Amino acid sequence: SSSLSRREVLRLLSFLSAGAAGVASVPLIGELFASKATAQTSSVYVRESIATFMQSPTKIAALRRGIQVMQSRSSSNPTSWIYQANMHGIPSNESRRLTAWGTCNHGSFFFFPWHRMYLYYFERILRQASGDSTLALPYWNYSDFPDQRTLPEAFRNRLLPDGSTNSLYVEQRAPGINQGTTALASAEVSYEGAFQRTNFFHTSSGQQSFGGRRATSAMHRGSGGGLLEGRPHNQVHVVVGGSSGWMRQVEMAARDPIFWLHHANIDRLWERWLLLGNGRANPTNDSDWMSDRFTFFDENARQVTMRGRDILNTVQQLNYRYDDAPLGNQVLVN
Ligand code: C2O
Repeated sequence: SSSLSRREVLRLLSFLSAGAAGVASVPLIGELFASKATAQTSSVYVRESIATFMQSPTKIAALRRGIQVMQSRSSSNPTSWIYQANMHGIPSNESRRLTAWGTCNHGSFFFFPWHRMYLYYFERILRQASGDSTLALPYWNYSDFPDQRTLPEAFRNRLLPDGSTNSLYVEQRAPGINQGTTALASAEVSYEGAFQRTNFFHTSSGQQSFGGRRATSAMHRGSGGGLLEGRPHNQVHVVVGGSSGWMRQVEMAARDPIFWLHHANIDRLWERWLLLGNGRANPTNDSDWMSDRFTFFDENARQVTMRGRDILNTVQQLNYRYDDAPLGNQVLVN
């Protein structure tokens, strides 16, 4: 059958209602959790929907400040806004080739893990730059709520009411997006087709999968992406970027602050897909997927590497969770 089974729908509904149960059930950022695996405690950052995040002037101010501070740093500093964006793609007028620039992975089964790692280190850099030790990256939930399919309001205006520059705004978007008049269409953000797939990867070009074609070497590829990479991922890039905006171009996309919230949502959908079960699993038997190393920088500008096996469980390995992920059901390591 081509639709989700009854059991899958029930699991999805319980996922959704875990989030709808209300703010009270959602642990606050920095709240302590006991980690079952290590019997240690560590603070788990909660990535919140931008719709609720925006209701806190303190949080929005921290997000804006973090971006501004990163933007003020020299582009040769790995913790700067431009350095981080150039890790995704290098603009054509840039002649330097600094460490880890242009290393994004699209069009293969490395798409999900690479972007999770990229967001993880970016979030650490952003948090430190903001000066707010509780800051976590919000996500843009265009997936579940039709009324959240316009660009979040905090990102729309060039200037803030006090006349200062809004670091969440960039001009290089489709005009209707910045005006809040263009909404993503449900056909553009639908993940149903991707979620029907139970295979994480595929191996030849006639096939399809949730997470992309198997590859033995990491790199950006123009085809071979999984169904979720196509929709909603690519579709959102194209609609937000319009004919020539940054989100439309691999080498410019990460300069737009909304890129990071878009990708947090994609990362959240990966976890949600796994929770549907019925054979859905990460390719933990694949040694390339598990062990190939990718290069990033931490908040102290120290070069680090990460592998697929390091990012399977966001709570236990990366200290973050999404605000609507079911508690006590975090064991995603297969
Ligand atoms: Cu690396 Cu949304 O793309």
